Amino acid sequence: MSRLACVRCGALAAADALASDATACACGALLEVLPPPPQAAPEALRARFDARRAGRAGPDRSGVWRYRELVAPALPEAALVSRGEGNTGLYEAPAALARWAGLPEGARWWLKHEGENPTGSFKDRGMCAGVTAALLRGARALACASTGNTSASLASYAALRGVPCVVFVPAGKVTTGKLAQTLAYGARVLEVEGSFDDAMRLVEEAARAFGLGLLNSVNPWRVEGQKAIGLELLDDLGWAPPDWIVLPAGNLGNVSALGKALREARGAGLIERLPRVACVQAAGAAPFARWWAALGSDPAAPFAPEPRPETVATAIRIGDPRSWEKARRELAATQGTCFAVDDATLLAAKVQVDAAGIGCEPASAAAAAGVRRLVAEGAIGPGARVVSVLTGHVLKDPETTAAHHAGARVRVAADLGAIEAAIGGL
Ligand code: F0G
Repeated sequence: MSRLACVRCGALAAADALASDATACACGALLEVLPPPPQAAPEALRARFDARRAGRAGPDRSGVWRYRELVAPALPEAALVSRGEGNTGLYEAPAALARWAGLPEGARWWLKHEGENPTGSFKDRGMCAGVTAALLRGARALACASTGNTSASLASYAALRGVPCVVFVPAGKVTTGKLAQTLAYGARVLEVEGSFDDAMRLVEEAARAFGLGLLNSVNPWRVEGQKAIGLELLDDLGWAPPDWIVLPAGNLGNVSALGKALREARGAGLIERLPRVACVQAAGAAPFARWWAALGSDPAAPFAPEPRPETVATAIRIGDPRSWEKARRELAATQGTCFAVDDATLLAAKVQVDAAGIGCEPASAAAAAGVRRLVAEGAIGPGARVVSVLTGHVLKDPETTAAHHAGARVRVAADLGAIEAAIGGL
């Protein structure tokens, strides 16, 4: 059985986490699921993970449920919801990309492409666990607030199980790709006249008032599933932990899940030391980066939301992230850091990741911009091993990408002479 406890005061919210749908403690902080430590030795666990890759059963083939001894072991196997999520590519940065980042001699840099999940973002990993737990608790309808990826993911998993879902998105601030995807999977889409933070507040109230299962990352089961990004990338690297893992940050659920995964993997003996975690925010939506900097001189500095978040990376256009307390704990545990990059830097990084043939959405490029910055600061030195987590697919935001490359499009007359002139010099 997994316990449910407060991340701040440690109070036990439920001896069986599945019995409760609470997300917050009486003290106001978020709750977390505390699974029992795996009983098997690390060698046995690794062998089991390897064997499952060759399996045919749904949960074995999932890059989340393959690690089920660490990800939500309390959930009964027959109930696990899955689209075969995970199993995403780990690409070593091609030479041009490594040169752009200034990667030092002997250093190695990989990009873990979470955009290769079934709905095109990392959200599927947490969603399969969150939806499994919600259905086991008997939820009749599911809900979330979203900047577009969580909503697409929830809509897909809800449809898979024939459960109605409603999503709250900031009106006019979600890319067409994400909106279309969410609608296509059959969600009821409420375009809230306000920001993501307004939508988040409303969905929490609506979930309480109307008995909806809440599937944002305040739901501790979402975090449990999302841990699998960290586990799978460690597995990809043969359980030899990298020195740094760099990822974008908005609502701070992902960095919270990653840190928890790394600590629990060490607890299970799967790795011997923790990689350092760097999370990167967009400069116009960077309340956590600001707070992290302030904590350096005043460990009691209060967390303050950003009232008017703005960035081209709509996925992380968030001013009042819910998981700030969890994220602080994980950065402290991993000797990590958080900083912000401006939109121009973020888009320049996206151009490089795209041109490398890998591609990602704007928010994800923060994970590449972050590497360049850590190299410039000397934090990534010769011989370092680094992984960036690319959180979303290049097709998630076609408007931004097409606008950037508008000048590269060549319209030609439909005759060979025009083609010859157009390709001259190739
Ligand atoms: N990258 C992408 C592509 C995202 O969609 C998000 C969050 C993040 C990074 C940041 O992750 O919030 O856990 O810190 N998207 C949420 C959504 C907010 O609704 O799709 P985080």
